[in-house]
Amino acid sequence: MKKEENSAVRLPDCEPLLAWYRSNARDLPWRHTRDPYRIWVSEIMLQQTRVEAVIPYYHRFLSALPNVAALADAPEEQLLKLWEGLGYYSRVRNMQKAAKSIMSQYGGVFPQEYEQILSLCGVGEYTAGAIGSFAFDLAVPAVDGNVLRVAARLGACGEDILAPATKRKLTAAVAAVQPSAHAAEFNQAMIELGATVCLPNGVPKCDICPLRDGCAAYAEGLVDVLPVRRAAAPRRKEEKTVVILRAGDCVALRRRPANGLLAGLFEPLCLAGKLTPEQMRAHLAAAGITPLYLSPLEEAKHIFTHIEWHMVGYEVILQTEIAPAVLEMPLADPKSASEPFFFAPREEIDEKYAVPTAFRAYRPYM
Ligand code: ADE
Repeated sequence: MKKEENSAVRLPDCEPLLAWYRSNARDLPWRHTRDPYRIWVSEIMLQQTRVEAVIPYYHRFLSALPNVAALADAPEEQLLKLWEGLGYYSRVRNMQKAAKSIMSQYGGVFPQEYEQILSLCGVGEYTAGAIGSFAFDLAVPAVDGNVLRVAARLGACGEDILAPATKRKLTAAVAAVQPSAHAAEFNQAMIELGATVCLPNGVPKCDICPLRDGCAAYAEGLVDVLPVRRAAAPRRKEEKTVVILRAGDCVALRRRPANGLLAGLFEPLCLAGKLTPEQMRAHLAAAGITPLYLSPLEEAKHIFTHIEWHMVGYEVILQTEIAPAVLEMPLADPKSASEPFFFAPREEIDEKYAVPTAFRAYRPYM
């Protein structure tokens, strides 16, 4: 295994990869277009989200916002609603900032040069490489986490793939074998190999890999130990109580602060700590609320990149007449920068307000 910091990584000839891709590629919607806008939307959605989950979002987003101009002009609520369930909402906010700059700097025409694409808000080297090659045939690599894994195995690179220096080295190795006449196809093929054959977590399908004969990890018996990844920092655990405050057909919601986790999305009442039913009743009583009915809901967990939420839930049914007064009561931390609560009718929650997936377990009660 090559551990030395300075040695270049060498990858095998890619011809068998291209031949394999031509007969094994999945038929994915974004592989039928050269429109940089559509490719961009697909690539941003595919960051952190599985292909099967992305497909319906991709079609819905493009029907609602078919081009850069439509994205630049979209109201924020519509954007968040179109993204609801995909998570990592800063991705779509950054896309809108980039769309605005394409309108103002490039007259609405998607830029065609790698450096210009890379300078768009939210576009990193991987995405710029994907858009540049898929839309404009630029001979630039597109190296995401999956392609890094493929390259680390092919070249038996034993360095930490999360380290920027390793990423640079592996990107250079990929670029060195990328054929300029088939740059886009090569990038798609590397992505495809990572997604369907050179799988993570001990289950690579080396028996069907087109590059097995040239794979250094396979030759050295290192497939199961590569890539090397430094241990991630442990996530912070937070306990919460989610309260579905219902009055008739409406549920109390509020908009989260404009910055930070789940910025600008809509949430039900959410209290710190896991409250027992007695503590829940006491909290409501202290705010001056006697519910008609209070029922515990299931416990739930949601994992963010750096935080875990461990939640208990309650459904609290209020007399409709007292609902307006409830909005005036000190329900949650007064120091929070969130906007005030309001009662939203059920169908409006479905159509208009983006509620984060973190509350998925409680969504049926909303
Ligand atoms: N993941 C990221 N980009 C992709 C692409 N173009 N096709 C399939 N999966 C992907």
